[in-house]
Amino acid sequence: MGPEREWWSVKGVDEATPIFAQVATVGEGGEPQVRTVQVRYVEKFGCLGVNTNKGTNKWKALLKKPLLAGCYFDVAANRQIRWEGDVQLIEEDDIFLNQMWALVEKGVRKVYWMKEGLPEHDLSVRCPTFGTILCFPKVWDIYQIDAGDSSRSTRTLYRESNGWKPEEEISVASHTDSF
Ligand SMILES: Cc1cc2nc3c(=O)[nH]c(=O)nc-3n(C[C@H](O)[C@H](O)[C@H](O)COP(=O)(O)O)c2cc1C
Repeated sequence: MGPEREWWSVKGVDEATPIFAQVATVGEGGEPQVRTVQVRYVEKFGCLGVNTNKGTNKWKALLKKPLLAGCYFDVAANRQIRWEGDVQLIEEDDIFLNQMWALVEKGVRKVYWMKEGLPEHDLSVRCPTFGTILCFPKVWDIYQIDAGDSSRSTRTLYRESNGWKPEEEISVASHTDSF
């Protein structure tokens, strides 16, 4: 498991307590596509999870190219968290999907059924268009701002291929690539 567990738990982010992050997919023409989603730490798979409608562009893009990049700015910690990872799309694991469905806000669950032309549908029943994107990060890029002195901010890369050892801890001031 990557270092994300530590940051996620520091923030108290778990299945029931998501963060709002921007995640990017790649379109058919190679174009970047970005949008805000709720990202959860999924205990069962030890990865990140995003609930979505299987009719969305992101789901279609991920079917063709199962790669996701995400970015989140933790205001309280003054920290930018970026990650990239492989994706697995979950659409048949009933037990897991029902758990995920129950975590989705009531109004949002209603929208799923409204899109199927069933606005009065029982919201405890999972809509068939509901799916979960699992993302298994391979790279984490942490930009820690020093609130007292921005010139002392650091950027650290972690790669799964390197056993999640912090690969580069660089002062942003000494690195031309960092700003
Ligand atoms: C605060 C916020 C949270 C959102 N959370 C989600 C989410 O968890 N899952 C999702 O599919 N869309 C979510 N959306 C909607 C997406 O940003 C996007 O508009 C929609 O999913 C269609 O995106 P796509 O066409 O790129 O697939 C959220 C939007 C906002 C503004």
